[in-house]
Amino acid sequence: MNSFYITTPIYYINAQPHIGHAYTTMVADAIARSRRLLGDDVFFLTGTDEHGQKVERAAQKAGLPTPTFADQVAGTFRQMCRDLNISNDDFIRTTEPRHHRASQELWRRVAANDDIYKGDYEGWYCTVDEIFVPESQLVDGRCPTCGNKVERLKEESYYFRLSKYQQPLLDFYAANPDFLQPAFRLNEIKTFIEAGLQDLSISRTSFSWGIPVPDDPKHVMYVWFDALTNYLTALGFGSGEGGADPVGARVRQYWPHVTHLVGKEIIRQHALYWPAFLMSARITPPKRVIAHGWWLMGGAKMSKSIGNVARYQDYAAAFGVDALRYFVMREMTLGQDANFSDDAILTRYNADLANDLGNVVSRTATMIARYCDGVVPAGGPADELDRVLEADIQKTIDLARSGFEKFELSVALQATWDVLVRSVNQYIVKREPWKLAKSADNQALLATTLYRSTDAIRVIAALIDPVMPEAADRIRRMLGLKQEQWTELRANTLAAGTRLGAIEPLFPRIEKTVEELRAMDERPIGGAGEPAAPGATQAVGAGTTPAEDNRISIDDFMKVELRVAKVLAAEPVPKSKKLMKLTVDVGTEQRTIVAGIAEAYQAEQLVGRTIAIVFNLKPAKLMGIESNGMVLAASVGDGRPMLVGFDQEVPPGARVR
Ligand code: MSP
Repeated sequence: MNSFYITTPIYYINAQPHIGHAYTTMVADAIARSRRLLGDDVFFLTGTDEHGQKVERAAQKAGLPTPTFADQVAGTFRQMCRDLNISNDDFIRTTEPRHHRASQELWRRVAANDDIYKGDYEGWYCTVDEIFVPESQLVDGRCPTCGNKVERLKEESYYFRLSKYQQPLLDFYAANPDFLQPAFRLNEIKTFIEAGLQDLSISRTSFSWGIPVPDDPKHVMYVWFDALTNYLTALGFGSGEGGADPVGARVRQYWPHVTHLVGKEIIRQHALYWPAFLMSARITPPKRVIAHGWWLMGGAKMSKSIGNVARYQDYAAAFGVDALRYFVMREMTLGQDANFSDDAILTRYNADLANDLGNVVSRTATMIARYCDGVVPAGGPADELDRVLEADIQKTIDLARSGFEKFELSVALQATWDVLVRSVNQYIVKREPWKLAKSADNQALLATTLYRSTDAIRVIAALIDPVMPEAADRIRRMLGLKQEQWTELRANTLAAGTRLGAIEPLFPRIEKTVEELRAMDERPIGGAGEPAAPGATQAVGAGTTPAEDNRISIDDFMKVELRVAKVLAAEPVPKSKKLMKLTVDVGTEQRTIVAGIAEAYQAEQLVGRTIAIVFNLKPAKLMGIESNGMVLAASVGDGRPMLVGFDQEVPPGARVR
């Protein structure tokens, strides 16, 4: 069995996760899932990068002790993994003791190789990217990577003899031409090296939120030295788990097969510093680094420092997790940038998922239910049309597999749709099974048609499985199929005679705008940390204690101003199942609040009622109505909201806490 190890960057915890972080994590997940389907023994790692001045400052700004702050934000990244159906085998936090041990072990090895010396650093530093910036690279006094202001540093520092690795690195790239993908990125790295490598400052003394340097704890390690080591930590490096074996069994098993998936802004750290640190420590450099492009929003890289970020939660709630996964993987070509836009995701959803895929699945299932008593029929001999479909199945399996193997997910998905989804749709249109059903003479051809269509859908389900695991499962449940390994996958191997499950729409067409969808929160994704859309009621988790990571401080809670309000008027919002427009007295004024309670309450039941609201929520437009606040309700049994009330009369405007 082949081993395969895939990693995402570990994310900084100075801010909450957004679509950019979600993207890399979802792609790594799809790659991990595809390798499992190919029969590999997979280890998939993601996690958080928690040290450094930026995090220390973010904690100070939040008024929290740094470890508490770190626990909270790391919790939101863990939650992201749960929300997005990520199948990671481990989640590493660089504040964990195992990681301190591993980083110190790597440092000792590099030092033992005489590659670390003490000096003074004076120069510029970008705290956002955590990189030292040579004066010659400043752009108008700012960081060339992120455009933020740099800071002047002058402090004692340990240096790594990076200059010594100039030639070994060039030799390594020459011997491993596939090391960095897409390949054109390697030229940028080579040009950088050929301009002359300077030794690298790898410790800091002006703050303490980091891993102490062995035998000199006044210094903490440069955050990138510590961060890159995480990829070894998770395999047990430095933990002593190998006993007499200094490396350990898991390092031996997985390290030679590692693929680091990263965004293009951190190629230098992964393709240059990291191999150099490893060569110095006498460890083989990583097998592969894959650098993807950026999601742009309004023409600029989506990033917290610019403030143009999209929340993954909004899109997952509006379209479903699978559709979000499909969109980002279909839309972004490996290595290129892509624009994130509401229109693009809506268009792809309706065209590719609702129309092309959803229709063929429900059409086929409905015909089997109607014409074959819900049992998949056996097929008969193939004619020309059947053979075309069969050839397209085989062609798609080959194209999709090779797309995944080359990490070109958009190519794999495009092939699946352009060849097979299209082919099976055409096959059905040409055969017209609804006409065959009308005549007793055509029953054999009808059976063959439904057998072959189901066979094609079986293969589609298998090929989309890494990208849309839930949809693949739903298709299989509907058609009575089992999950299949890709190693076994070929045309015409469907077992006839299985009974269909319940038929449900796979991706119902969405006629609304993204704005409306987001606001209505019609299909909230699971997860205790998921915030509700403003104005809608939020489903409360099923009575579980929040994981320690997700708990908030009393200060955080007090930021939410809850107040008593009295309902003066209520009317259902036209064309909405869930929304009710309320006019409420909040003590100091009257307000309009749009709440998702119309399925549980009639307008008349609401007027005169005393309720609790979130008073200081930013206004949001729901179905064209501005909502100012949010009504509190419990989610009970069937998910219907039940309004929070009081056991005695309380005046509007009273604070609730
Ligand atoms: N902590 C470092 C990585 C250390 S790895 C040893 C870091 N963290 S980060 O929080 O800034 O995350 C950067 C990564 O998040 C990118 O490399 C990319 O994988 C993902 N993305 C963040 N914004 C993105 C876009 N706008 N578009 C695509 N991916 C983005 O750097």
